[in-house]
Amino acid sequence: MSKLIINIKKLLQIRDKKTSFISACEMNNLPHINNAFLLIENGKISDFGKMSETPKINNIETIDAKNKIVLPAWCDSHTHSVFAGNRSDEYMQRLDGVSYQEIAANGGGILKSSMQINSVSEDDLFLDSKRRIKTLIGYGTGSLEIKTGYGLNYEAELKMLKVIKRLKESLPIQIKSTFLGAHAIPKNYEKEDYFKLVINEMLEDFAKMKLIDFVDIFCEKNYFSTEDTRLICDKASQFNIPSKIHVNQFNSIGGIKVGVECGSLSVDHLEVMNQSDIDILKDSNTMPVLLPGCSFFLGINYAPAKKLLTNGIPFAIASDFNPGSSPTGNMNFIVSLACNKLGISAEQAINAATLNGAYAMGVDKKSGSICKGKFANLIITEDINSIDDIPYYYADNLINKVLINGKEVN
Ligand code: NIG
Ligand code: FE
Repeated sequence: MSKLIINIKKLLQIRDKKTSFISACEMNNLPHINNAFLLIENGKISDFGKMSETPKINNIETIDAKNKIVLPAWCDSHTHSVFAGNRSDEYMQRLDGVSYQEIAANGGGILKSSMQINSVSEDDLFLDSKRRIKTLIGYGTGSLEIKTGYGLNYEAELKMLKVIKRLKESLPIQIKSTFLGAHAIPKNYEKEDYFKLVINEMLEDFAKMKLIDFVDIFCEKNYFSTEDTRLICDKASQFNIPSKIHVNQFNSIGGIKVGVECGSLSVDHLEVMNQSDIDILKDSNTMPVLLPGCSFFLGINYAPAKKLLTNGIPFAIASDFNPGSSPTGNMNFIVSLACNKLGISAEQAINAATLNGAYAMGVDKKSGSICKGKFANLIITEDINSIDDIPYYYADNLINKVLINGKEVN
């Protein structure tokens, strides 16, 4: 199957094969070719360049991208997009003045999502999640990380992992599964007892079943400690499973340091950071993942993106799609929000949502940039003047077509 895209107004995010992420000082650049072509063969990008150099191929399916920008599909490296039901009632309570933490302390929040997950069948959870993720693909997402963490017991965490496995098999995008058994402490459990179950039984068994790409933990006051975080990251390393961890959402308790020391692939959230957290991230290979959708929806701090950049620290942005703190997985909106609320440029936001996101979920060799041999996972925009239009029209998806493995999705 071959396909040729011609007359591309701007082909964006052209990177060398060896570039696995974009450094802080490079994030304001988006290498591009004006008036370009792109050739797709067997689902991969096989060639691209100036229109004047377009290869002559007879009888090839052609897409005319006149006035349109082409860029890599979004790489959403942090989601909880397998869930059941929703928590719109809690949203209304929050608008009435009850805090997210108070709702959680009263048995709502993550525990409510856990009750909902425990009461649906694997098949229903699969179908519901598949429908939801198909919508995201239409919004331009080509790589997606999905966490467990709403099961909070052996059977239901396994159910979530099996659902993620079925999603990997039945959807065309790249999906990575993250085991977040240590997301909250279920009712009727002491934290220590539940954590032992997570680390000694669930993590071990699920790793042996080859259901886990990454491990995660909610490192936060009243949830899991930095000691717990180190233990779970180390245990996962024994199975060659990298960690991606929730840290510094409400408090800075040392999670970033543990993540960097354990070689975590990413440290996510970072709404609350002090100078020592920033110093630790300098020169590490751990990618910060900022989640502006969560700050927007909960009305909490935004991560200090500009401070990271001035300290030479790059970052990714992701949706954090979940029913409690960020009920959207629309990365077009997340890119807009990142510009508006983190104060970054369109170039920086697009770098954060493509190659840096790919790095933060271990798919940078195959996705996240325009590079020969990578998956032809592409967004073809509507007719637009400049890439600044993408964040500017913050409630629109300026997408004309999404191609996944070179195939148009509808
Ligand atoms: O990333 N902070 C922990 N976990 C999720 C929210 C979970 C929920 O409220 O359901 C997050 O924001
Ligand atoms: Fe999250």
